[in-house]
Amino acid sequence: MQYLDKSDSRLKLALQVTNTGIWEWDLVTGQLSWSETIEQLFGIGSGMLAGNYKTFFKRILPSDRRLVKATIARAIKKQTEYRTEFRIRHPDGSIRWLTSQGEVYRDSNRKPIKVVGLCMDITPNKQVEAALARSEVKWRSLIQNSSDLIAILAADGTILYESPASERILGYSSDELVGKPVFNYIAPQEQNAIAQAIQNLLKAGHKATFPPIVFHLLCKDGTWCCVEASGTNLLADEAVEGIVINARDVTKRFQALRDLKHTQDQLVEIDKMANLGQLVAGVAHEINDPVSFISGNIIYACDYVQDLLKVIKLYRQYYPHPEAEILAEIEEIDLDFMIEDLPKLLKSMKVGAERIHQIVLSLRSISRPDEFKMKPVDIHQGIDDTLMILQNRLKAKRGSPEIKVTKNYDQLPLVECHTGQLNQVFMNLINNAIDALEEARLSSLQGPDDTSCSLPFIHISTEAKEDNRVIIKIADNGTGMTAQVKDKIFDCFFSTKPDTGNGLGLWISHKIIVEKHQGRLHCLSAPGQGTEFIIEIPIKHSHDSC
Ligand SMILES: Nc1ncnc2c1ncn2[C@@H]1O[C@H](COP(=O)(O)OP(=O)(O)O)[C@@H](O)[C@H]1O
Ligand SMILES: [Mg+2]
Repeated sequence: MQYLDKSDSRLKLALQVTNTGIWEWDLVTGQLSWSETIEQLFGIGSGMLAGNYKTFFKRILPSDRRLVKATIARAIKKQTEYRTEFRIRHPDGSIRWLTSQGEVYRDSNRKPIKVVGLCMDITPNKQVEAALARSEVKWRSLIQNSSDLIAILAADGTILYESPASERILGYSSDELVGKPVFNYIAPQEQNAIAQAIQNLLKAGHKATFPPIVFHLLCKDGTWCCVEASGTNLLADEAVEGIVINARDVTKRFQALRDLKHTQDQLVEIDKMANLGQLVAGVAHEINDPVSFISGNIIYACDYVQDLLKVIKLYRQYYPHPEAEILAEIEEIDLDFMIEDLPKLLKSMKVGAERIHQIVLSLRSISRPDEFKMKPVDIHQGIDDTLMILQNRLKAKRGSPEIKVTKNYDQLPLVECHTGQLNQVFMNLINNAIDALEEARLSSLQGPDDTSCSLPFIHISTEAKEDNRVIIKIADNGTGMTAQVKDKIFDCFFSTKPDTGNGLGLWISHKIIVEKHQGRLHCLSAPGQGTEFIIEIPIKHSHDSC
């Protein structure tokens, strides 16, 4: 049944142009009439729609029928206007979206008598809508699942949006951050640089960006997270209206870089020490021969001088009145003083040369490169050599007394070890003891009274144990250590000596004793109580551990 057949032709044209169908449902007779566009909208030929409500409903997808029915029923019951959207299936199987909008007419008793509606195909709109929704879901899920932090800031730095990555990286939920100034979370010393970058971005205008900046963000647990962030000015973009910040957590990367730098420094230090060892060994070797000449020949020089002095004595006895020229010369050179002083002078030269000889021997034995295999050695010799080299640090100097070294050596068998490395440990421990004694002296001078200050000493003792172990203890009455310092002394680069320490001595010593000799190195210490380092190493090693 055709509707509007004879109706106003201008209305008909308008409906045709907008592809709008019109229908009328007579609630009294149940008759449904429609314009021909309705049939086009339903994809059927003219006259194929039976003129009742049921056949119309059959064309709607079953899942949408209930909504349409309910909407129209509600309009009939309560309101006069309604609007609904539903899907229909065309005879070719394709699905189309239609919208129907209409009005219920009533008689003078407010009894509904007919419903008049317009029908339009909104499939293209629905497709655009669906595509938009899909795209929105896609972008949202990209942002939400991104491992990077994505934030939108207002021009004044207020956080307008924060992606969920903030929870994983910083510990704050997005809700906790939105509305807060971003500067609340930036490390104070880095705030200026970020504020400047944002200012530049605002000046540069729409779509301007700033290159990645590295700075620190405060996490909820109070720690700092190192991020690398770039920004884009999208304030003029209607969809964003803010500055978009992309930040990546680079804490681990920076930590790895720091570790690498640390290892590099370690290697440089170790290399420096190895070079120094070689240099010392070379110098000691070169000095050894000339020093041997001096100390060997000085004995003959003493004998010759004694003989000459004897001859002079005899001359003076038998020729008590020499010529005036000889007398003048005797006076000039003060012969009597020379006769008295020369033997003393030669004696001190002999002692000095002997000392040099001993030091050179100790330097040679200490800096001698270790062989691959351990060798049985006299540990006491290594300690004595070390003390010989450190003599200058031990003796009294202006204002500071001599550091007394006492030894209590047990009868030790030869101990299998890498001598050079073990001597390095003795050197580190004794040097540290001297440092602690010097520090104690300095602080006692600054203290309120220094009467309680006892004389500085280092006590070294050794002991052979039944169970294939030798124990070497090096104790001092220096500053001692607090528990916090004691906890860290074997850490690489840990030092409490700001100008002179490199913090490698105990780290290397620990490695030498524990890793290279399967031993133990520990210490007893308390502030003001001095320090004792205890080395334990096996006397003999099983073959595979050597
Ligand atoms: N005998 C000691 N008495 C007091 N403190 C010591 C002693 N030996 C080591 N220490 C502490 O251990 C730290 C680390 O020692 P070390 O690794 O040799 O490095 P460095 O001597 O270069 O500081 C020292 O800085 C010091 O604080
Ligand atoms: Mg040291």
